[in-house]
Amino acid sequence: MNITVVGSTNIDLVYLVPHIVTVGETLHSTKHELFFGGKGANQAVTASQVGANVHFIGNVGADDFGEQVKQNLQDKGVNTAAVQKVGITGQAIIQLADSGENSIILFPGANFLVTTDQIEANKNTIASSDALLLQLEIPMPAVETAANIATQNGVQIILNPAPAQPISDSLLRKVSILTPNETELAILTGMKTETEEDLYHACNFLLQKGVGAVVVTLGEKGSYYMNNQEHGLVQANPVNVKDTTGAGDAFNGALAVALGHGNSLRESILYASKVAGYAVTQLGAQPTIPSSFQINK
Ligand code: RIB
Repeated sequence: MNITVVGSTNIDLVYLVPHIVTVGETLHSTKHELFFGGKGANQAVTASQVGANVHFIGNVGADDFGEQVKQNLQDKGVNTAAVQKVGITGQAIIQLADSGENSIILFPGANFLVTTDQIEANKNTIASSDALLLQLEIPMPAVETAANIATQNGVQIILNPAPAQPISDSLLRKVSILTPNETELAILTGMKTETEEDLYHACNFLLQKGVGAVVVTLGEKGSYYMNNQEHGLVQANPVNVKDTTGAGDAFNGALAVALGHGNSLRESILYASKVAGYAVTQLGAQPTIPSSFQINK
């Protein structure tokens, strides 16, 4: 099962706080931690830890952090032959509240230096994958180039539309599975996403645009999904939440692997929820996923 992830890498500068700081407030942080992060890297590391062969295409900075970020990917079993060192390593400044909720400021650095040429140069890696996993922390032309290569070669595309931004209809048409959270779904569709009925209409709107399936991550409420055959809620099991940073990434990495192994969409969502449910009980966006979660079918 070969997965290619095209995306971002970051160093996460995490500050533990009693609550997310409000406008005009000055707040003491009780603890500071450095973790490896970046939506692309987080998804790649999860996919690798649950049993896939993963290639990562993206950038790290030409600095000490960049070296550490690349080494970490290798240590987690991710192939980094297509990782370039350029600019400054991306940073995420994260407030992590006692509730497990967070707020994030992104400094993109090297991530915004991913080019379409770089993606084209790694065409064969994408073309020979079972699935391509994309997010939106690198420039949109690079995302679109990767999607074009995947489509031309019959590779299924999972797009996690985060951070939220407008997506062209031509890209949406190429997406096999779109995985927004409620906020991203609202921004993408311009529709309400509060009730199950809202979710039905918003997902249906995206299916009419040509998206293969939509899986909306709803945090502790679970997920809502829709494809051309079925739709519905999949509840998440209650867990002891420590840190929700990267929960969506763990979900996406695991979802891609479960689907690649031939599981149905609903079965894959159930599995991805379990992996994400474990991830939020640990600190950091790339927790070690126990080998008991591996899919070896
Ligand atoms: O999804 C969580 C990730 O978003 C963090 O690891 C941070 O780096 C930001 O990219």
